[in-house]
Amino acid sequence: ANLREDYITEETRKLISSLPTNKDSQGSLCKYQGSWYYYNTLQGAINFKNHFQPQETDIILASFPKSGTTWLKALTVALFERSKHHNDPLNHPLLSDNPHSIVPFFESNLYLRTSTPDLTKYSSSSSSSSPRLFATHMPLHTVKEGLKGSPCKIVYMCRNVKDVLISLWYFKCKYLKIEVTRSVLESTFESFCGGGNFYGPFWDHVLSYWRGSLEDPSHVLFMKYEEMREEPYVQLKRLAEFLGCPFTEEEEEEGGVNKILELCSLRSLSDLKISKSGKPDSGADYKLCFRKGEVGDSKNHLSHEMEMRIDMIVEEKLKGSGLSF
Ligand code: A3P
Repeated sequence: ANLREDYITEETRKLISSLPTNKDSQGSLCKYQGSWYYYNTLQGAINFKNHFQPQETDIILASFPKSGTTWLKALTVALFERSKHHNDPLNHPLLSDNPHSIVPFFESNLYLRTSTPDLTKYSSSSSSSSPRLFATHMPLHTVKEGLKGSPCKIVYMCRNVKDVLISLWYFKCKYLKIEVTRSVLESTFESFCGGGNFYGPFWDHVLSYWRGSLEDPSHVLFMKYEEMREEPYVQLKRLAEFLGCPFTEEEEEEGGVNKILELCSLRSLSDLKISKSGKPDSGADYKLCFRKGEVGDSKNHLSHEMEMRIDMIVEEKLKGSGLSF
């Protein structure tokens, strides 16, 4: 309801008037390049696309909302910070700040209200050897327009659609400070199935990155939340290798992989003071980032009919893609 739209340019308003539109309880959405955006986020996406100046070493962390974005951000920050904080773990940025303020979203933070954000402070470390880390919920084709051919590395975190849906339901209720009711679940479910939800359709989002990772595996890494939970050690090593900062044998022997997994675990991150109290000057409430992080939590909430319906949609949409979840 309170989405500020006063930064939307005349040009974007004209564009919106030519796009399919839709409304939900939080505002008006339009479908741009196959994905639904609230108007203000569309302006952010367009500002990013037109004005972002990529550096070849930039790393983009991408996801559909509620797929494990916070975790992916934390792990990536920790990978690049590890040499620096080896001897001084207390100074680690993840202990004093939330992963979302260390790694900002292009369209909903940096470019939301300006086409010229100050990007200088957003590298994972102040040392110049560290790449800049950014995040996005936009689909791959739109991100690529902003990257303008620059060979940046992109990591996508994918999560089972039913768990995403349940996570979104809880998040939405907490965010809007409303009761967690079945009727909110049902309306979220309907809009999800219809594909008209924020950043939806979910399947098209996932497929854009899945296909991108098959076409160009050295620049697009496709990760799954469930695999991260199942075999975190293997997956973190995979991430580190992809990002060009693999663990050395010595690091592994000293428990370096497990140290990062522990630092970035849901329990450790949500226990931090910053997660509990938020950031005084920003009003950000980081408690909303963390809940259960369980695989298969949807089983406790979705009716049999709901499961069947979403399974059928997913099966049809992913048919022939080689992707399943
Ligand atoms: P649940 O609501 O199922 O618990 P995002 O970060 O993309 O907003 O996703 C939020 C989901 O990731 C939530 O799932 C949240 O609990 C989970 N999550 C947050 N931090 C995590 C972490 N460090 N490890 C594992 N899961 C995490």
